[in-house]
Amino acid sequence: MIKLCVLGLGYIGLPTALLFANNGMDVVGVDINERVVNTLKDCKMPFEEKGFQELLDGACKKESFRASTKVEKADVFLVAVPTPFDAELRMADLKYVVSACEMIIPHLEKGNIVIIESTIPPKTCEKRVRRILERSGLKASQDFYISHCPERAIPGNTLHEMVNNDRVIGGLDEKATELTRDLYSSFVKGNLYLTTSTTAEMIKLMENTYRDVNIALANELSMLAEDYDINIWEAIEIANKHPRVNIHKPGPGVGGHCIAIDPWFLTENTSDSSLITLARNINDSMPIHVLKKVKDLVNGIENPVITVFGVAYKGDIADTRATPALKFIKLAEKEGFTIRIYDPFVKEFEYPILSLEEAVKGSDCIVVLTDHSEFREMNPDDLYHMMKNPNIVDSKNVLSKQTGLELNYNKSIA
Ligand SMILES: NC(=O)c1ccc[n+]([C@@H]2O[C@H](COP(=O)([O-])OP(=O)(O)OC[C@H]3O[C@@H](n4cnc5c(N)ncnc54)[C@H](O)[C@@H]3O)[C@@H](O)[C@H]2O)c1
Repeated sequence: MIKLCVLGLGYIGLPTALLFANNGMDVVGVDINERVVNTLKDCKMPFEEKGFQELLDGACKKESFRASTKVEKADVFLVAVPTPFDAELRMADLKYVVSACEMIIPHLEKGNIVIIESTIPPKTCEKRVRRILERSGLKASQDFYISHCPERAIPGNTLHEMVNNDRVIGGLDEKATELTRDLYSSFVKGNLYLTTSTTAEMIKLMENTYRDVNIALANELSMLAEDYDINIWEAIEIANKHPRVNIHKPGPGVGGHCIAIDPWFLTENTSDSSLITLARNINDSMPIHVLKKVKDLVNGIENPVITVFGVAYKGDIADTRATPALKFIKLAEKEGFTIRIYDPFVKEFEYPILSLEEAVKGSDCIVVLTDHSEFREMNPDDLYHMMKNPNIVDSKNVLSKQTGLELNYNKSIA
């Protein structure tokens, strides 16, 4: 039986480890966080997502998965540790990847495969990872193999996407690519596209950069639409009837720890990126734009109370990582506004999350920042009855879409 050692048991590493454990492999999952390891030792998930607990139950029953704080000898090492964004340097912070690779060195043996799933800048496998692992005395592509298999699953539907999405596999050499393909074909039902490690690194970053740039374009179009006093949502819907047009949705900015970050990993090594950097700046500035619309609406109201609808970075999930709502809230506080937050999914946040009634009663303006399905079901008239002043800024077009009413916010992004 193939033995796999997975380093990093977070949103990506843990379900990946469990999928391998449920598909014929002996898996030891390693995390430096003892709370995560101890929770897993009791066969409990350290965080919740659809289908994860059942997968863990299956692996526990088969005794094919163990959690540990220590790396051990294995046939395959899989690294799924964080790659945060260093905001000061505007580049990837590789310290976790470096330390995970260093933890593998004493256990590395001839014939082993080391797979990096973490999102990394182009050439990281070829230059950084290879150099670190070769400190073991073994030679990459000769004694052991390195490949990159980027993860593209979406939070909220991770398991389905991990199994069904197509995947990109890029080895440092052909044998690394083939060995990695054989491993993933144990549970991936999508196509496996084979390439080099640097191309695989680039593909993952290109995909998210494509989305970021297109969202920036949609945001810019929405601001132009305001000048012409037209409804951008209607305009986009009709423009997208064209067979070769797919304009993205505008909004209050881009959040999550992929789309808002990955473009910087792509541009960190060049002085030549104007479009990608501009797109990042446009998207980062959108909370300021939404705040401006709120300020226009509450102008003249003394000590206005602003209600934020949704702080998750996208609809119907509880994830608030890099959410543009945080920038909006901090800027609104600077204006002296009182902020109240309602989010039916988020339980933990830097600010208190209130009940719908607590958040809306006596409010001077509701600002929709996330497209949770629940907001689509709401009748703005019911909200108005609870508010002190009936103002709504709907940056996600969820309330307007439902009622078609002519509300204060029904202008482009707002
Ligand atoms: N979450 C996503 O939706 C997603 C999607 C695509 C790609 N990615 C990428 O996948 C990688 C992992 O992301 P995540 O969301 O799973 O992160 P996470 O923060 O949920 O989990 C990472 C885990 O790694 C552990 N860790 C850190 N250093 C370690 C080490 N040296 N050895 C063992 N464990 C260590 C941490 O304690 C943590 O539990 C990142 O590069 C991320 O950009 C994430």
